[in-house]
Amino acid sequence: MAETITILENKRILLGVTGSIAVYKAADLASKLTQAGAQVDVIMTEAAQRFVTPLTFQSVTGRPVYTSLWDAGGEGLPTHIAHVGLGEGADLLVIAPCTANTLARLAHGHADDLLSVTALAARCPLVIAPAMDGGMYSQEVVQFNLRILQGRGALLIEPEEGRFASGLVGKGRLPETLTLIGHIRRALGRDGALKGRKVVVTAGGTREPIDPVRFISNRSSGKQGYALAQAALDAGAQTVTLISAARGLPTPVGADLIPVGSAAEMLYAVLTFAASADLLLMAAAVADFMLPDVSTHKIKKREDGDEGLTLTLARTPDILTVVKNRRAETGMPRVVVGFAAESHNLLANAQAKLIRKGLDLLVANDITAPDAGFEVDTNRIIILDADGGQEALDLTTKTRAAERIIARAAALLSDQSGS
Ligand code: CTP
Repeated sequence: MAETITILENKRILLGVTGSIAVYKAADLASKLTQAGAQVDVIMTEAAQRFVTPLTFQSVTGRPVYTSLWDAGGEGLPTHIAHVGLGEGADLLVIAPCTANTLARLAHGHADDLLSVTALAARCPLVIAPAMDGGMYSQEVVQFNLRILQGRGALLIEPEEGRFASGLVGKGRLPETLTLIGHIRRALGRDGALKGRKVVVTAGGTREPIDPVRFISNRSSGKQGYALAQAALDAGAQTVTLISAARGLPTPVGADLIPVGSAAEMLYAVLTFAASADLLLMAAAVADFMLPDVSTHKIKKREDGDEGLTLTLARTPDILTVVKNRRAETGMPRVVVGFAAESHNLLANAQAKLIRKGLDLLVANDITAPDAGFEVDTNRIIILDADGGQEALDLTTKTRAAERIIARAAALLSDQSGS
């Protein structure tokens, strides 16, 4: 079974499905939300049922599917309260795909089917994911209706550009499930512990160039940093800037990705964004050594000999030390979290690093354990704080470790605000 997603666990999500060819993607969305731990109640319009039967949604959610204002009693709710009962206690109403027709009817307060009545009665936030063929999405009237709904607080998941079922090309495609879930997470997390906070996360191993084709790097995958960015988004952070030297990982929905290569580039990006940040999480494995003089040409081996190559390396800038010095002047970032990958004397080395680098929290892990540290999805960490406290987390996923680190950092920020 897939791992549950903390922010979705036990959330009541109403999924409104309308008549678009993209309905098949809604079935995948309903399935993934359910697997992630949410309770998903699907409401289908008449037109949606022309594309897919309710049985599809019932099968993936394990719950009754609601299709009619008039016979919802047969689906588990007394008929006279079905229209208000569904919305009651829901955490979120998501309409995906949302046709131009449903958009117009919601914008103008129509209440002539179960979905429109539920949307009127529900007090939870509304998320709409429009999907429409041809040039419909860019039509003025569609945009007008959208603005009306946004003006009332509805959250929009922008459709994507691409090829439609009709063969036309344009903007109007329903995004993939992972993107939809990313937006749903943002909507659910909006009042979380990092609400209104600006967060900067670094991730991945930097690459120090040798010549145009070679570089020195390390085994960091960036997974822990990306998990931290996602956890900060789930906790409602206003902005999450992900300064990343990692490759091939999907950017969490809502994060601003700043791709970097070397330690020097990462330093520049960190100084730029951390100057106004509340929280900096320095999860990147910054290379300690670089070539002071990078060859502009590919270094060639000599054809007439077998001598090797000697490279003279210099120290890279220590980013956290530079941040510490800036912070002494400006007070920003308010909270700084460092990471220590150690292979021996874990606690003694980590404690010394916390003090040397002026950190509020230091997350230490023993990289010699096969199930922790680089490349794998799990981690064993100890969180040290500036007061000498230690919190050990047993073997856990990088996702769960990230959630705990974010909770600790958020608590420090709120202590500061309170004092
Ligand atoms: N770090 C940094 N700049 C560097 C090297 C590391 O900001 N040039 C940060 C890392 O992102 C991490 C913390 O410092 O948050 C500790 O990194 P680590 O590699 O464990 O420590 P080093 O300072 O490099 O010390 P050593 O390699 O000697 O253990």
